[in-house]
Amino acid sequence: MSIGIDKIGFATSKYVLNMSDLAEARGAEPEKFSIGLMLDALSITPISEDIVTLATSAAQEILTEQDKLDIDMVIVATESGIDQSKAASVYVHSLLGIQPFARSFEMKEACYAATAALNYAKLHVATKPDSKVLVIASDIAKYGIGSAGESTQGAGAVAMLVSSNPRILSFNDDNVAQTRDVMDFWRPNYSTTPFVNGIYSTKQYLDSLKTTWTEYQKRNDTDLKEFAAVCLHLPFPKLALKGLNKLMTKELPEENKAQLLANFERSIVYSRKVGNIYTGSLYLGLLSLLENSETLKAGDKIGLFSYGSGAVSEMFSATLVDGYRKMLNPSRLSELDERQPLSVADYEKLFYEEALLDENGTNTFANYKTGNFRLTGIEQHQRIYTKNDN
Ligand code: HMG
Repeated sequence: MSIGIDKIGFATSKYVLNMSDLAEARGAEPEKFSIGLMLDALSITPISEDIVTLATSAAQEILTEQDKLDIDMVIVATESGIDQSKAASVYVHSLLGIQPFARSFEMKEACYAATAALNYAKLHVATKPDSKVLVIASDIAKYGIGSAGESTQGAGAVAMLVSSNPRILSFNDDNVAQTRDVMDFWRPNYSTTPFVNGIYSTKQYLDSLKTTWTEYQKRNDTDLKEFAAVCLHLPFPKLALKGLNKLMTKELPEENKAQLLANFERSIVYSRKVGNIYTGSLYLGLLSLLENSETLKAGDKIGLFSYGSGAVSEMFSATLVDGYRKMLNPSRLSELDERQPLSVADYEKLFYEEALLDENGTNTFANYKTGNFRLTGIEQHQRIYTKNDN
């Protein structure tokens, strides 16, 4: 039985910060961001858009009423949790109206968690072939005003419906994971922004890629020639390009190199405009590849490299199935261009606004633009979500 991704959706904020404006405000050359990081813009969320609203909007894009009856598990992978106890997926389950006899929970390991969630979903469907699992990677990457990581922020959610006989791609059973205990990026409970050893984190990413890939090749007796494309976790596209260049050895024929590089360009189209969305970044890269590559075809094998700081990484592959293009959204790029640009001063106010609660733990938020759902406020410490009329 084949198991894989049957549908994939995406949501991001309605506001955007152009990197050229950030460069000017921070006294950096615009090319440092556009060439050095390969980033053009970052999605910026207001206080009324959080991982729940993003996740719910991403899922709503793809789900039918029948899907909501068939789904029996909802997993939200995130490192931007809104509660230490209650899982974001419980809110998502409720806002979407999924049938009640479902298991809902949250998973965490930095940017890696969505990959663990997909693995768990695969195991579940293997034992219950009629069930569908909704896996959503949802995050808001916030490093702090003027911090080194500020240029690699972003926000968004990728929703994936995992089922048997999937209509986009099927997972191959070839996963190889690696865990190493390193302090490259972490966020203690008392801090709203992460602590980052920036350069060290890039070295960990690249070394995890190299060593996991070597083990993956050995265990699966394979090499890069078998892949039409490789998608990598995208904290910023330039790092992933460095990673791909490391995988492409001298022995790899030029035509394979050219194909992999062309498809890499297609895989970063969205991230260039959205920034890092942490656990969803790899899957935003996959979505970008599928929706923008004109050369991919059914039967092509795609390699995926997942990396979460701390650190856990995983290499695995998936194969495209017949008719996959019909399951995609050809107008996504123009939708991204509809976001409202912010000045740097407005970005600083909007992205870093805090919920100032009164003595009862209550506050109502301003009427910012959001996707299909909004966090209207907090009442007696309870988050209040509503569906927009749009
Ligand atoms: P920085 O100090 O802003 O930038 O830090 P830099 O000085 O290293 O320059 C960046 C690149 O721009 C360099 O390219 C420069 O040469 C180039 P490189 O040498 O590396 O190829 N550059 C220029 N290029 C053209 N024209 C110019 C120009 N000027 C400079 N005029 C850093 C960058 C990534 C360290 C910082 O943004 C940061 O700390 N970001 C956050 C951490 C991060 O993203 N790490 C990635 C690996 S860890 C990971 O992926 C996990 C993560 O997603 C979290 C999770 O798992 O939860 C982050």
